Amino acid sequence: MGVLKDTGAIEYSKGLEGVIAALSSISAIDGNEGKLIYRGIPIEMLAKYSSYEETAYLLLYGDLPTREELDEFSSQMRELRILPKKVEDCVKELPPNPHPMDILKVAVAHAGLYDPDQYRCCREGVMRKVIRIIAQIPTIIAYYHRARTGQEIVPPDQNLGHAANFLYMLHGKKPDEEEARIFDIALILHAEHGLNASTFAAMVTASTLSDINSAIVSAIGALKGPLHGGANERVLKMLDEIGSPDKAEEYVLNALKEKRRIMGFGHRVYKTYDPRARILKEYAEYLSDKYNDRKYISIGEKIEEIMIRELGNKGIFPNVDFYSGIVYQFLGIPRDLFTPVFAMARSVGWAAHVCEYTQNNRIFRPRAYYTGPDYVEYVPIENRR
Ligand code: ACO
Repeated sequence: MGVLKDTGAIEYSKGLEGVIAALSSISAIDGNEGKLIYRGIPIEMLAKYSSYEETAYLLLYGDLPTREELDEFSSQMRELRILPKKVEDCVKELPPNPHPMDILKVAVAHAGLYDPDQYRCCREGVMRKVIRIIAQIPTIIAYYHRARTGQEIVPPDQNLGHAANFLYMLHGKKPDEEEARIFDIALILHAEHGLNASTFAAMVTASTLSDINSAIVSAIGALKGPLHGGANERVLKMLDEIGSPDKAEEYVLNALKEKRRIMGFGHRVYKTYDPRARILKEYAEYLSDKYNDRKYISIGEKIEEIMIRELGNKGIFPNVDFYSGIVYQFLGIPRDLFTPVFAMARSVGWAAHVCEYTQNNRIFRPRAYYTGPDYVEYVPIENRR
């Protein structure tokens, strides 16, 4: 029965580590040098000079837009922010207690039912569907939050950019320019990151030629987990548990002794400092000083020092999730919305990979190496014990 174990596989790699599963021109990571580029442009340049809308265009279409192209793309995003009435009603009526990532899955699936381009397969139809989802996710998150907290929903303001408009819909007042810009940068930094778990989940679903909403729902489910996007929310929980920098040493050493993971550290690809974490740390520092509240940043920096001392030689450094929560906290974003905000930013990366992969599609279908017995007799139920 050797044939049962003959997978024809080249090599087994747990967690698909190191496996090349697709060709892509969207982004690249140098995990040893701590570098990330989107379509060839270093993330630091985009964080400095770009906007989320421009970066989204770059990721989706392959090049930076001209002024006219950006204006057209931005106004398309603004128009598509508005939810169909039935989706708005559904979001407002969803129960207040589930995790907002579960709400987001339901709402994105529901929104797909009212997508006028639902059954279009031409490039323009697919692009409209993609841009519609990217534009609608912030509205879904903000409307849900307002409804669950008993507040009136705040419709999108068509004069505001993507980042500023989200903060406006969430808080019911326009953010100051500086905070809107910091949030815009956080969205740029989270927009894309190669074949991470959620992007791969989206690609696997899309590779069956399913629809884009189904692919995004798959991705949201994968992002929710604490080993992926769900880590950002847990970092803040940990900082609260620790309470002050002088307690960090004991907490971290105990956790490591008990083989518990410190959230916001480690990465499958980066074996050095995640470049996104470096930028987010600067803004976490800046906002802590601006608001004269260094509680979280001082505990965070102490944890970083201990973790690098203890595990730096194993390539464990802060990842994107470590400092993002401190930034979001200062922007007034509720803690359980940190991961939905990650999804809001990453929706463009998911969509870009789905579009790229399905243009030259092949269904994903890996195999498992069978480790069970070769032959077992079937025992009738009355004879089993
Ligand atoms: N805390 C303590 N030890 C860690 C951590 C951590 N955060 N991350 C990895 N390690 C250790 C592991 O215990 C393991 O040690 P061992 O070799 O002695 O057994 C070694 O480093 C390798 O860990 P793996 O789990 O094999 O690494 P993998 O590449 O599979 O996992 C992951 C990467 C999931 C990100 C992991 O580092 C982790 O669990 N981090 C904490 C959760 C987190 O921050 N997730 C967000 C990642 S970024 C993102 O998805 C947006």
